[in-house]
Amino acid sequence: MAAEILQPSDKAIANAVSILEDGGLVAIPTETVYGLACDAANSDAVARLYAAKGRPSFNPLIAHITDLPAAKREGTFSTTAEELAKAHWPGPLTLVVPVADAHSVCDLARAGLDSIALRSPSHPVARELLKAFSRPLVAPSANPSGKISPTRADHVLTDMGDAVDLILDGGPCKAGIESTIISCLTNPPTLLRPGSFDASAFQAGSTDEAAPSSPGQLARHYAPEARLRLNASAPETGEAYLAFGHSTGTLNLSPSGDLIEAASNLFAMMRELDSKHDRIAVAPIPSEGIGAAINDRLARAAKRD
Ligand code: TXA
Ligand code: MG
Repeated sequence: MAAEILQPSDKAIANAVSILEDGGLVAIPTETVYGLACDAANSDAVARLYAAKGRPSFNPLIAHITDLPAAKREGTFSTTAEELAKAHWPGPLTLVVPVADAHSVCDLARAGLDSIALRSPSHPVARELLKAFSRPLVAPSANPSGKISPTRADHVLTDMGDAVDLILDGGPCKAGIESTIISCLTNPPTLLRPGSFDASAFQAGSTDEAAPSSPGQLARHYAPEARLRLNASAPETGEAYLAFGHSTGTLNLSPSGDLIEAASNLFAMMRELDSKHDRIAVAPIPSEGIGAAINDRLARAAKRD
């Protein structure tokens, strides 16, 4: 069923907050493009969001917050990072900083990185919603993978109407180009993605120490210490077993064989098994839908060099 488009009002914001609290997906206007928002702390909601985007891998998401104090609960700000935020927030500038110890944004939303991308949007509807929700919202551009970013509510309806629970209409986006992403993991900070904010003063950052592919690869992904064996129909002696579907395991990603539930459990279960075992066998995961992203993540985790 196609999502409802609501004009912004107190009632619409309250409606959006209750959908987000229930783990739903709400398309929101920002000054750059429309974003597909969900509760950044809810890995189940984030798994549904990745499934709706239909990407074959977990791209780390930008956490949207109201202001610098809220950002500092999620990330660790150097003096330089803090100066950039103070000078340019709210606005179309995303800062990548080390994740703070007491962060609330889930592992899945950060694709297992130990850094986090943060931005304080200036669009009044996005700000009102963030204030009312009072916690970070992750929001990738509200387009299916491979399509261009939406700048009007009806674009979202056409492209993702069946996948979202509600679309807040904030009119056409002013910028129409995504936020500029600057990494504060380097000193001086480097440009990871050019965007609406003029970043000609910054040097382009290498997007990966080894092989540039996506900005998300800059920081280290969580890599297990344990040796991983994939597509294992059963564990061997000495292996912990990460099961999927109707089989018994040390842990089970989803006893009912639900791929979204499996994605939501993936990072936490890998960490738990890794803390107690040296060898982990992982059940075969179907590569359909979000299963492709799960397998992509598992393949990276299994690679040791
Ligand atoms: O303007 C925007 O930024 C829009 C609106 C909705 O806010 N959002 C957006 O999100 O463009 P998305 O998911 O389409 O792009 C997020 C980018 C990705 O290229 C991702 O790799 C990068 O941010 N990113 C997220 N976390 C990162 C991290 N820890 N390190 C490096 N790059 C990161
Ligand atoms: Mg995008």
